[in-house]
Amino acid sequence: MSDQRQPVRPFRSRDWFADPARSDMTALYLERFMNYGLTPAELRGGKPIIGIAQTGSDLSPCNRIHLELVKRTREGIVAAGGIPMEFPVLPIFENCRRPTAALDRNLAYMTLVETLYGYPIDAVVLTTGCDKTTPSGIMAASTVDIPTIVLSGGPMLDGWHEGELVGSGTVIWRSRRKLAAGEIDEEEFLQRATDSAPSAGHCNTMGTASTMNAVAEALGLSLTGCAAIPAPYRERGQFAYETGRRIVEMAYEDLRPSRILSRDSFLNAMRVVTAIGGSSNAQPHIQAMARHAGVEITASDWMEHGYDLPLLVDVQPAGRFLGERFHRAGGVPAVMAELLGAGKIAADCLTVTGRTMGENLRGRIATDREVIRPYDRPLKEQAGFLVLSGNLFDFAIMKTSVISPAFRQQYLSQPGAEDVFEARAIVFDGSDDYHHRINDPALDIDEHCILVIRGAGPIGWPGSAEVVNMQPPDHLIQRGIMALPTLGDGRQSGTSDSPSILNASPESAAGGGLAWLRTGDTIRIDLKQGRCDALVDEDEIARRRGERAPEVPESHTPWEELYREKTGQLGEGGVLEFALKYRGVAAQTPRH
Ligand code: FES
Ligand code: MG
Repeated sequence: MSDQRQPVRPFRSRDWFADPARSDMTALYLERFMNYGLTPAELRGGKPIIGIAQTGSDLSPCNRIHLELVKRTREGIVAAGGIPMEFPVLPIFENCRRPTAALDRNLAYMTLVETLYGYPIDAVVLTTGCDKTTPSGIMAASTVDIPTIVLSGGPMLDGWHEGELVGSGTVIWRSRRKLAAGEIDEEEFLQRATDSAPSAGHCNTMGTASTMNAVAEALGLSLTGCAAIPAPYRERGQFAYETGRRIVEMAYEDLRPSRILSRDSFLNAMRVVTAIGGSSNAQPHIQAMARHAGVEITASDWMEHGYDLPLLVDVQPAGRFLGERFHRAGGVPAVMAELLGAGKIAADCLTVTGRTMGENLRGRIATDREVIRPYDRPLKEQAGFLVLSGNLFDFAIMKTSVISPAFRQQYLSQPGAEDVFEARAIVFDGSDDYHHRINDPALDIDEHCILVIRGAGPIGWPGSAEVVNMQPPDHLIQRGIMALPTLGDGRQSGTSDSPSILNASPESAAGGGLAWLRTGDTIRIDLKQGRCDALVDEDEIARRRGERAPEVPESHTPWEELYREKTGQLGEGGVLEFALKYRGVAAQTPRH
């Protein structure tokens, strides 16, 4: 079949398979691709080669659905006149990778850049799901800048336990508290965890996975309505097919990420994160994707464009429901349409459909107002990330959509000083220290304390651990105190309902103020002013800075060492700083 269409720009794969000046090399490139049935005529016939970046594997169970799903994508690619070539991406499994999956986002990024750049790939389908599989792929797509489309794998079905919804991760944090209070035993704990994961798919809460897939859609990188479809649903296969068809057209149109990703599209994504009650990990990931796309997002952007927006979506951990209800209520397009109606979405951003976001959203309305609220009847006002700074760090965020009424009552309602509170610091050096000492009576922890964890940032851990949502000691939980204020230079799971102050940058291991903080110091937090300070005078701080800093563990692998040397702080997205200067590298064809 000869194709009459002409690409806007010659396909880069022509340089491998049809370079008249190097027929000797062409023969070499062609021969091994033929040994699984491709013919020279196909490969030389001018069809675009469409890469399928496969993130599913036995080690990546959240994305395993893609092993099946991409069969439909391949059919879509072939039907539209492309040649699919599937290849593996480094596994990133959030729950299981030690010391943390955060190490792998930048490694997957770097290896994907090399694959997309160094092989004859004209356009790519990014298969996404588990937390970091989405940002790593998008970061790489920006660096390489070939036409790119995101195919989400979708969340698991809703989990049920004894007639109650149990959501990924969130059920773990809640059940841990019940375990500590003596309300359930370990067998019951395991059963609740099992019941929260009833099918293939990624986390069914609005954790980092669902958040980042929503972000990809809000950025304009996936077909409209793709993000929230549960993995086992009929529409998944249909979207997989349509995604395959569309990427072939995008290859012809030369519709690259650099034409889609703009400051406006990133601001749209930040607004969506607030409206859905999205993960606190969205902050470093959005920052990282924006920086790789050459878009500047500052700390004040989070306040200016993200903070003062309402929470519209009633999904755990900020709300009650899970992924299936969210999808059936209209998913991401319905949320964006709500924001658009309130003038909070830039409508003219170009998307992978070839149309603008405003055009994509036409006619999309929520069909279940219990799950997706109208803009003027939200679940919470001012539900975005609050940005804080002070003498302990330059930047940290607090996810305000998960501040519970009980927490507000306890800490944020002192007459005359609303939004200001002081607490006695209890400082832990990493999570082993926390687990070891949290129930130590000598610490004398009460409801006037703030739990602080350091050594949990990109350098300190390494990779930056999800540990800031620390649980109070058992004796407080048994008294009904389910949460204490927490602060740290690590992250926390997107499924956590803890209103922690987290992602503090610079981290203690990079000379941040947490390094000199001592147990017993008073910390003053002023949410109105966005301040968080230890009430320690300058001379004393200077004296402590001269003393020995907390220990940083040695690297155990080559990548850990390289990662620590090259990665920046969470406030700046935790990216490989040297990599930012590479953008649009596919414009240069690699040498023979
Ligand atoms: Fe993979 Fe939540 S652990 S999506
Ligand atoms: Mg996580």
